[in-house]
Amino acid sequence: MVKSSHEQREPAIITIFGVSGDLSRRKLLPALYNLAKANIISEHTYIVGVSRRELTVDRLIDDLEEHLTSSRRKIDQHTINWLKDRLTIQVMDLDEQSDFKKLRDTLDRIEDKVSVCLSRLFYLAVPVSAFSPLVSMIGAAGLNKGCQHANVESRLLIEKPFGYDIKSAKLLIGDILKSFKEHETYRIDHYLAKETVQNILILRSQNPVLEASWGHKYIKSITIRAIESIGIENRVDFYEQTGAFRDVIQSHLMQILALITMEMPESINTDSVHRAKVSVLEQIQAPRREMMVSQSVRGQYRGYTEEVDNTESITETYASAIFSIDNDRWRGVPLKLETGKAMNEKLTEIVVEFKSRQRPEEASNILTVKIQPEDGVILDVRVKVPGFGEAVETIPVDFYYKERKSLKYPDAYERVIADALHGDRTLFATSEEVLESWRASQPILDAWADGDVQLELYEKGASSVV
Ligand code: BG6
Repeated sequence: MVKSSHEQREPAIITIFGVSGDLSRRKLLPALYNLAKANIISEHTYIVGVSRRELTVDRLIDDLEEHLTSSRRKIDQHTINWLKDRLTIQVMDLDEQSDFKKLRDTLDRIEDKVSVCLSRLFYLAVPVSAFSPLVSMIGAAGLNKGCQHANVESRLLIEKPFGYDIKSAKLLIGDILKSFKEHETYRIDHYLAKETVQNILILRSQNPVLEASWGHKYIKSITIRAIESIGIENRVDFYEQTGAFRDVIQSHLMQILALITMEMPESINTDSVHRAKVSVLEQIQAPRREMMVSQSVRGQYRGYTEEVDNTESITETYASAIFSIDNDRWRGVPLKLETGKAMNEKLTEIVVEFKSRQRPEEASNILTVKIQPEDGVILDVRVKVPGFGEAVETIPVDFYYKERKSLKYPDAYERVIADALHGDRTLFATSEEVLESWRASQPILDAWADGDVQLELYEKGASSVV
């Protein structure tokens, strides 16, 4: 977890490959700005932005200021200057090994100038197809060995999807291991860094009322939903290769499902949380082949094929599937994961339906953990309607973080970068987790690829698909 005391802030250089891209502009640089402003990162934090084409620090800073202004944030000039002083641009041909040697010289020079050993973080904000060649170039240039005196480590930060299927995920993991050890690899799943997602472990471990009823005896169903009103937003190539299932279900939602269904470890530390997650991920099962039609849905919003200029495209922009876990705690509980683009609203939530005592097939209490757009927790409880009658009604007992006006907490990317800078891997996915999540997903992807489940067309702004 983030350690905010001054002693814990590690001096570091973050090299961002793809610094002029969308991810870096919208998420990474604003996150670094906010961390610097909040004084959470070391005074000795340096950023090297790698770009294939000519780029200047001024241009990058202008873009950052424009982004901050468009998200209605007041610009803190002191922090902007702080970042500007610590930013270097490295124009590189990523196929040219000699350019990686030049990058190493740049990192050495920055270290020499400040006379501090700096952890070296390499953030690959580039398409997944570029990961393996890039990691091998980084390794071949000796950039995987930490600072030039080799007494602090190098870390690799990569973004999901980690592969395209189980086979490519295994290859990617193997390729990365040739240059970076598992504990030096930080696989980012920014959903794990969302405040309410972290809250799942606290809700479960600190509330005996929930822990005691956590399982098939009391729970009727669980739904984890992440729908969005936006479409694919010009990410044509990425989306055509990825689709909704790989983009969100196989990664973000499967991770949340693991946190919801795992056995609670004795203490919440990096290793025990990862062990508990892997152990339940191993047990998650996709629908059986003969149930695929009734238990999985793939949809595409109307107008998608024109948008991507491919009339033949069968890429799904909506996906849902019902998973199961055949163990003593979860046997028989449907675990539904759902995601979609161009839906009627932006909503990320976990809905846990508890069985009615009199009629177990019906739901009574419902626990909703709201993740977006607002973070909060709602428990629907059954109470008597006041008066002479015996009628019963359901009322929500709710709590929203926004009600605590003075409360400020980091956004997901701030958390991800701060944790990676501090060497804390708790909120990152391990290779075992990634592989298990592909294993659980693969039967659905295979059945869909074989055309077992028909693609449903839906209107933009729909509230549901079929
Ligand atoms: C990303 C997906 O991982 O998550 C995007 O690639 C999606 O397609 C995004 O829009 C959603 O993230 P958030 O934090 O806005 O819910």
